[in-house]
Parts: sequence; C-alpha cells; structure tokens
Amino acid sequence: MITNRYHEPVLVAETIELLVRMPGVYVDGTLGGGGHSLAMLRELRRKGFSDESLLIGIDRDDNALREARRKLSSSGGNAVLVKGNFSDISRLVRRVCNEKGLAASAAGILLDLGVSSAQIDTPERGFSYLREGPLDMRMDADSEPSAADLLNTMSESELSTLFFRYGEEPRSRGIARDIVAYRAHHGAVARTEELAAIIRKREFRPDRAIKTLSRVFQALRIAVNHELEALEQALEESASLLCSHGRLAVISYHSLEDRMVKSFFADRSHSDWGPKGVGLREPLKKAAFDVVTRKSVVAGQQELLLNPRARSARLRVLEKQAEGDCGDPK
Ligand SMILES: C[S@@+](CC[C@H](N)C(=O)[O-])C[C@H]1O[C@@H](n2cnc3c(N)ncnc32)[C@H](O)[C@@H]1O
Repeated sequence: MITNRYHEPVLVAETIELLVRMPGVYVDGTLGGGGHSLAMLRELRRKGFSDESLLIGIDRDDNALREARRKLSSSGGNAVLVKGNFSDISRLVRRVCNEKGLAASAAGILLDLGVSSAQIDTPERGFSYLREGPLDMRMDADSEPSAADLLNTMSESELSTLFFRYGEEPRSRGIARDIVAYRAHHGAVARTEELAAIIRKREFRPDRAIKTLSRVFQALRIAVNHELEALEQALEESASLLCSHGRLAVISYHSLEDRMVKSFFADRSHSDWGPKGVGLREPLKKAAFDVVTRKSVVAGQQELLLNPRARSARLRVLEKQAEGDCGDPK
C-alpha cells in the first residue's frame, strides 16, 4: 500500500472508476499532494489512453504544487501543473490547452474540496485549534486577508454573522461578543491558542467545546479563502468545460459545500416540462446533464479504519449529455 505523508486522498478507487472513462483532457482542480492526480494518470495508462490524454493540475497553494510536482515527476504521465484558483478554472484550462494545441474541453474534472492534511497539520498555517500558531488560514500565501485580519477588524455583528453563516454555530453571538471584549483588553487576537481559549472559556463541556471550536475555525477558513464563492463559480465553469459524456466529480466535507453541489447538480439535470397537466411532448428546456450518483458515495469501513478524514467525505458526479467531440466512453 502507498502511504501519502502529505495527504492521504479519499475515495480514490470510487472517484477513478466514475471519472476516468475515455481519453481526453482531465483537470484536477484541487491538486493537493497529487494523490488523485497520480491515480488518474495511472488509470489513463492502464486503459491505454495516455498518449491521447493530458492532466491539468491546479492548486492555489505553492507547497501543494511543489509536493505534487515531486510525486508526479516519475509517473511518466502527461501533466501540466499550474498555480491558480479553481474559480478561474475556465481561463486556466483554456490557457494550457491553447499552449498544447488542444480543444479546451474536459473529459473529466475533479474538485476535492477543503484543505489537505499537510495544511491542517502545519502549525504556522493556523488552520487548526489543535496546533499553536498564527491565525493565518490562507491557502494562497499571496492572498489577503488572514484569519487574524478578519478577527481584528470585523465588528461584533459581522463576526457573529460569519460564525453563523459559515459555521452554523448556534452560539455565534456570544462568541463574537467574547472576541470583541478580548480585543479591547489585549489589543488583538493573533494566535490559534488565544482564539481556542476564548471559545473554551464560554463552553465548559469538553465535547461541546470541540464541536464549537471546529465550527468557528471552519467558518473563519471559509471566509478567509472565499470558499463558497469559489465553489459556486467553479461549478458553473466546470460544467461548461465538459465535453460529451465528460464528468464532473466533487468531493465535499461539510454540509454547506455538499448542499451547494447537490442543488447545482439537481438544477443542471432538471428538464422543464412547464405547468403540470399541459402534457408537452418536448420539455420547454431540456436538461444537458445527468446526475450519475443518485446518492452521494461515501467511504467504506476499510477506508474509514485507515483514514479517519474520509468520515465526512461525500462524492457526487455529474455527466454532460452527448453533444461535443471528445469520443465515447469505453
Ligand atoms: C483536500 S485537498 C486535495 C487533496 C488531493 N486530492 C490529493 O490527492 O492530495 C484540497 C486542496 O485544494 C486546494 N484548494 C482549495 N480550494 C482551492 C481553490 N479555490 N483553488 C485552487 N485550489 C484550492 C487546497 O490548497 C488543497 O491543496
């Protein structure tokens, strides 16, 4: 078994089986440590599609790109890795395809959302309440603001809204009040352990404190990295990049993301038959996509034992109906 110290990818076999079915351009919009990308390249080779295929890997974190470059360097596959935000997936893919003289349409796109284990486990990145470090949380170190910037400049009501909207935290108001009071006494909240202490002071029961800490840290991370806005944009752009029978696979880790993916897939696979009882022979608007995974795919017992991170992972896949020019799945 291959172990990935940077990040153990989840649902690899399930993702590859549903995604890699014909030669063409494959896009990994969340390259991370390159685990899924490597598996895609291997599957393309196994199926004899390597010569007619290209993998484009995207990540906004320089460390991820470095790690993925190292991992994929000996794969022998045809891959181009670029730094960028998947909200910009259309432009990034068009640029690479233009350079390679290929049509900018994708046979498969993967978005494995959220952060990698390496990002969470590095104290200086500030993603985890379990690691002491600066409250940074930026996936792209060149972007702004950091989590500390938000915590120290937002008003009490803005903070409360942030914790409620992105963390679904029921005690958002009280936590926002405590943060503003802490700022008044200490000047600023700068480190993960300071924020964790503020939250623990309000929540005495350890089991409840852990849930609150997770929700507040998640909310800050989502806001710092504009995660939901990026996902909304990426879903739209990815759908339009797909060729005939091309598939979009999304792995999400919390309900806010999963709800967005589910409702986007439902919307794109819905034909409009007009008001009930009219009995049209053709729909007013015909759906251009089919949902491949009626229910989300989740990890099996075996994977859960080896990789606890897979616990919250949900995979959903959407397929573009026949139309374009990239061949039929084999
Ligand atoms: C869960 S990890 C992906 C792990 C990867 N599938 C693997 O096999 O190692 C998510 C990765 O997506 C990146 N990421 C998250 N949001 C992004 C965005 N909007 N644009 C580009 N990369 C993003 C993160 O930096 C992180 O490296």
